[in-house]
Amino acid sequence: MRVPVIAANWKMYKTTGPAVEFVQDLVPRLGGREGVEVVICPPFTCIPAVASALFAEGERGIGVGAQNLHWEKEGAFTGEVSAPMLRDLGCSHVIIGHSERRLYFGETDLTVNRRVLAALANGLTPIFCLGETLEERRAGITLSVCATQLHFGLEEGISAEEAARLIIAYEPVWAIGTGVNATPGDAEEVISFLRGQLMKEYGSEVAERVRILYGGSVKPDNIGPIMAQPNVDGALVGGASLQAESFAAIVDAARKR
Ligand code: PGA
Repeated sequence: MRVPVIAANWKMYKTTGPAVEFVQDLVPRLGGREGVEVVICPPFTCIPAVASALFAEGERGIGVGAQNLHWEKEGAFTGEVSAPMLRDLGCSHVIIGHSERRLYFGETDLTVNRRVLAALANGLTPIFCLGETLEERRAGITLSVCATQLHFGLEEGISAEEAARLIIAYEPVWAIGTGVNATPGDAEEVISFLRGQLMKEYGSEVAERVRILYGGSVKPDNIGPIMAQPNVDGALVGGASLQAESFAAIVDAARKR
């Protein structure tokens, strides 16, 4: 039985003050949280503040993640942050290959692969994002685009044991930040297909263990039917993760699945 994951992707929002206020507001709202894993991915600059605010609230169960990492441990890479640096701040997770990074920052399947390998080698759980654009969906190539991103993102030396630790987020690009979310059926179709691809590459035991999330305009009022799909194991939430009230409502819906 896969435990659902609800992950907050704050993108480039919040300075430390509002980040701490968010945590103080969120923790009491969550109450019992058995049956769901929660991860908050703030901008790099807020990671220490979020981690210590969670600690101060007595909250040990919420993971903290980054939104990117460099694949080298250290070096002359101005502006970059490595996996050991993230571990040093207490991160447990890292988002990799988000479509905004692919679109605006030249991320490719090759660089996604390097980042996934570096995260796994350093004990970070990758939240590996993939998904098709609107043009690709209209052209009827959604499944092959997603299969390609999955295959090349995981190429080169990922063992079955490491693959089982992955979290994958299917995020159709046309649904991100647009208010247009995929239907629960669309999400289930692609996610069950991805699970099938994992089965081919790593076997059924791994495929049954990997959590595959949906992302793209997830809100408290649409999470229910999405979570009701048998292969959907949670959500990567952007806009609705910025307010404690809406994020807590999404966590609650996932817990009640
Ligand atoms: P959204 O973003 O929920 O604002 O659509 C999701 C994401 O980009 O991960």
